[in-house]
Amino acid sequence: MVRYLLTGLFILLTVPTMALSDVDLITIDSKGGSREKAGVSPVVFPHNIHKKAYKCAACHPKIFKAELGANNITMKQNMNKMFCGSPGCHNSPKAFPLFHCNKCHSKGKK
Ligand code: HEC
Ligand code: HEC
Repeated sequence: MVRYLLTGLFILLTVPTMALSDVDLITIDSKGGSREKAGVSPVVFPHNIHKKAYKCAACHPKIFKAELGANNITMKQNMNKMFCGSPGCHNSPKAFPLFHCNKCHSKGKK
């Protein structure tokens, strides 16, 4: 009996959380022109995964303004250790490197 109750509780608690973390995928797409020229898709940023791994203050407000579309991100800046390429981020052994274009420019790819 307790087992069924616990299983029920488990499902009740995990299903909505999973659904919530799934939707926290932010499409960053303000650079249509130059992005299309380079032949890459819009960026899908998994906020959910990053929120689980880091504190909010690791990114906000120093690296990214916490507002949709408020960060004017270019690859030049990423490569100059800003935004996604900030120290300890996608230019370090902690995360996949910047030349894995399609891992970030992934809209419509997975
Ligand atoms: C760690 C994530 C990440 C990786 C890896 C990445 N990008 Fe980007 N890229 C971004 C983000 C975020 C933007 C900003 C998107 C926007 O605002 O439209 C961006 C923007 C761009 C733009 C448009 C802005 C500009 O700089 O002209 C181009 C072109 C681009 N990326 C090409 C590439 C190419 C080519 C690669 C692989 C060599 C790559 N990116 C790898 C995250 C990434
Ligand atoms: C790894 C860096 C990173 C971490 C950690 C992070 N964020 Fe974000 N956050 C971003 C990026 C990138 C965006 C998209 C900004 C854009 O569109 O230019 C964003 C967007 C947002 C937004 C605006 C979009 C929305 O969903 O309303 C809010 C609010 C926000 N973050 C709050 C938080 C909070 C609260 C935490 C901690 C629980 C957090 N962030 C952790 C990088 C991060």
